[in-house]
Amino acid sequence: MAEELPTEVSEQEKVSEAEIAVHWKEEEYYYPSEAFVEQANAADPAILERFSEEHFPECFQEYSDLLAWDEPWNQMLDSSNPPFWRWFVGGRLNASYNCLDRHLEKYGDKAAIIWVPEPESEETQFITYSDLHRRVNEFAALLQDFCELKTGDRVTFYLPMIPELPVSMLACARIGVIHSEVFGGFSGAACGDRIADSGSHILVTVDGYYRSGELQDHKARADEALDAAAKLGQTVDKVLVWRRHPGQYASKSPMVEGRDFFVDEIIGKYRDEVVTPVSMPAEAPLFLMYTSGTTGRPKGCQHSTGGYLAYVAGTAKYYEDIHPEDIYWCTADIGWITGHSYIVYGPLMLGTTTVIYEGVPTYPDAGRAWRIAEKLGVNIFHTAPTMIRMLRKLGPDEPAKYDYHFKHLTTVGEPIEPEVWRWYHEVIGKGEAVIVDTWWQTENGGFLGSTLPAVHPMKPGSCGPAVLGIYPVIYDEDGKEVPAGSGRAGNICIRNPWPGLCQTVWGQPERFVDIYYGKFCKDRSSKDWHDWPYLAGDGAVQAADGYFRILGRVDDVINVAGHRLGTKEIESAALTVDEVSEAAAVPVVDEVRGRAVEIYVALKPGTAPSKAIENKVKEAVDRLIGKIARPRSVWIVQDMPKTRSGKIMRRVIAAISNFGDVGDVSTLANPEIVDEIRHHVQSEKVKRGDQPRELTPEEAAELRSFGHAE
Ligand code: WTA
Repeated sequence: MAEELPTEVSEQEKVSEAEIAVHWKEEEYYYPSEAFVEQANAADPAILERFSEEHFPECFQEYSDLLAWDEPWNQMLDSSNPPFWRWFVGGRLNASYNCLDRHLEKYGDKAAIIWVPEPESEETQFITYSDLHRRVNEFAALLQDFCELKTGDRVTFYLPMIPELPVSMLACARIGVIHSEVFGGFSGAACGDRIADSGSHILVTVDGYYRSGELQDHKARADEALDAAAKLGQTVDKVLVWRRHPGQYASKSPMVEGRDFFVDEIIGKYRDEVVTPVSMPAEAPLFLMYTSGTTGRPKGCQHSTGGYLAYVAGTAKYYEDIHPEDIYWCTADIGWITGHSYIVYGPLMLGTTTVIYEGVPTYPDAGRAWRIAEKLGVNIFHTAPTMIRMLRKLGPDEPAKYDYHFKHLTTVGEPIEPEVWRWYHEVIGKGEAVIVDTWWQTENGGFLGSTLPAVHPMKPGSCGPAVLGIYPVIYDEDGKEVPAGSGRAGNICIRNPWPGLCQTVWGQPERFVDIYYGKFCKDRSSKDWHDWPYLAGDGAVQAADGYFRILGRVDDVINVAGHRLGTKEIESAALTVDEVSEAAAVPVVDEVRGRAVEIYVALKPGTAPSKAIENKVKEAVDRLIGKIARPRSVWIVQDMPKTRSGKIMRRVIAAISNFGDVGDVSTLANPEIVDEIRHHVQSEKVKRGDQPRELTPEEAAELRSFGHAE
């Protein structure tokens, strides 16, 4: 590392980080309306005191009380084996019981899920708590009997936004089977990796689903997943295929005799069957959620039953302000952690109505989302900055045309520009709704940073203080604490364990320790949790009022439209193209999607650059990861800028792609290549009209830190 980052560069970076504080424009506060405060679940600031550090970890009793326990726990936190924290030790419970059975008496006839198909001609489905309970029980019986699944087995789902996804999740949870849902937009190959890593013998999928008006052939991709898993040595015995229109098969891919089964054909045998929820230890894994990091393979974050559910129930209640009588709509995909925590588990645990929309919120036009909100009476709306930017671009005046009223709005997944925040507040929220900007990650189970909506004022562009029971710290690169409230940038860490934090990386405990604790744990033999700060991997600054502003990833992760993509995964895909010898993926600032991916490739000797090779690289990324990762541009270069030790300087090419400052390149092994690449790339971009605006200081800081994680 020392060679790659000469001191001059570090000094320069330190100066620029300090400059951020200077350039920082402090935003005005916005306050929640009285009407909101009056009805809020948490309006009394005394709650802050209850969750202050001196009450840690007992403060989480309040969250555990939101669950129905079969056996009460006898130890809140066992921290004797850091960083493998155990929460609610000795307790037993069942996740599906907590989401369904306990609500039946009071809310049996109320909609648990309202499912909105993408085609507007198709009818919206209102699935009551009783219906959902019945469907979950029948599918749980099928999993137990037909698939012979038992406690602790893993099942992979490759499912889009259809009600069968939460049905499948809760059915697994009912019988203590660990579910692992792979986002429907990932490629078959990406799904295959995850099937193999989790050791699943059963895959649950669907024949097709609608996206932007087209019926996708999903079963064909599931077949690719099975082939990819088989190549990695994982055989799947049974594939359960739900049908988008029961009785009609929408895929061109043939069903494999003895392996593939239509759920609607075999579930009849289990009609009205009731499966007793299996009482699981609080620490039993509930699900895996794969996410990208710095190194090649995605990692399976293993989430617990008791800790996860308690944390999600508590944060959904206080931060999403969910009441049973609300109509709540989160536009995330259930294939991501936001969907698991804040479409399925959180809202259902609180007995509310959760809206699930199959398709694209701007399809067929920019008014679609607002028609849904108006028709269903949605009063809590949860989305990501990319969607807000898109809605603003396509239909800046649409919301005013519809008679809906939100009390509460959420933004999640990427930093939100203050200007976009204000549009969210004024136009989507009609000036009436509070906004929470929730900062967190797949690994965390639930929110880490947010204002408590009836207690703290909002500040555009800042997520707010840490949430209840979370005590952050910012460290500089040398592990020195950046003074709290100083406005200086550094690595944000969480000093304490909390119930929602994932338990480990599936099958790779050593990776869990290295990734999240390797950098700032000074004494790995310490048994004291105070010595184990959790590294989030984000840069952040804290203002004097205690509010955090998240600057983005400091590792090699590119956040495209709120989707976390590892540069290594994208580069590995490019390297499968025969002609390519080296590849480097970098982020470019994109007005709608936050960041887009550009990839630089060097070719094998004697190979001439061509459009065909560029296309092959794009296709390889589509095939191996999915269209979400498709590079906006592929730049074929003679050579990559490299350090003397041969490391590709991604920071330099990221600067070129963004028309930013490449910094000092004199210490590179081949400094002359920098100008050559810059000339080639930037003149081509200017020709295409693809020149981004001037970078903000935050963006410049993020790009400067890019590529440091290796
Ligand atoms: C980014 C999504 C700024 C951050 C829940 C984090 C955010 C990564 C915010 C996790 C926010 C998430 N403001 N940045 N409110 N929320 N991020 O695992 O870089 O898909 O590390 O979890 O998204 O993405 P993940």
